[in-house]
Amino acid sequence: MTVHERSDPRLIVALDYPDAESALGLVDRLDPAACRLKVGKTLFTAAGPALVKTLARRGFAIFLDLKYHDIPDTVANACSAAAALGVWMINVHALGGRVMMQAAREALAREKQPPKLTAVTVLTSMAAKDLAELGISGSPMEVVARLARLAQSCGLDGVVCSPQETRQLREECGAGFCLVTPGIRPAHAGRNDQKRVMTPRAAMESGADYLVIGRPITRAPDPLVALQEINREIGLK
Ligand code: C5P
Repeated sequence: MTVHERSDPRLIVALDYPDAESALGLVDRLDPAACRLKVGKTLFTAAGPALVKTLARRGFAIFLDLKYHDIPDTVANACSAAAALGVWMINVHALGGRVMMQAAREALAREKQPPKLTAVTVLTSMAAKDLAELGISGSPMEVVARLARLAQSCGLDGVVCSPQETRQLREECGAGFCLVTPGIRPAHAGRNDQKRVMTPRAAMESGADYLVIGRPITRAPDPLVALQEINREIGLK
């Protein structure tokens, strides 16, 4: 059993840094028992699989946030390649559709240690008018719920969603469906470019399983203190 399985940290620190050196500057101070890490497109494009493997070897549970959206075969192969890096969670775009999500699921079923597979439903940067322009009918919440149900019916483990959506998704998708929420801001922190935010405690109470938090930690005067305060707020030490 790994250290993160024993302690089950609910906080995922978004490593939104431009290079490996700056990311490791923070990671050197972090404990895998206190947080998980998210590597997204910027850091992955700059620092690649080598950094992901380094972080995994240090015992961190890693969410590789590359939001795959391509033809089913390509996504399936990308999922297998991601699994080989030893990450804890990966994701796809639900808008890639049923066949693509099932191909991802089947590819991971062949892996010895498959990561959790989640889907992005509607990007939180998109509003009703952006969906209408794409010819997608319904309010953002309706579209999110529709895509979450589709992801669940394809056997995915959960979705990434806004904290405003967790309560309804928890009701619709049940207790075992994993809800990962960015857009979290402790009461004392600035909002940055996030518009619809929730505090860590409110997000957990609304049904989130994991909180993705970037700048309130990475840009805090003391990132470690900021992380510990959030863990205390959500009832983890
Ligand atoms: O700094 P902040 O806490 O806003 O970082 C949130 C992280 O979650 C960023 O890495 C951002 O790309 C990611 N994210 C998000 N909204 C989504 C999906 C991912 O903010 N819908």
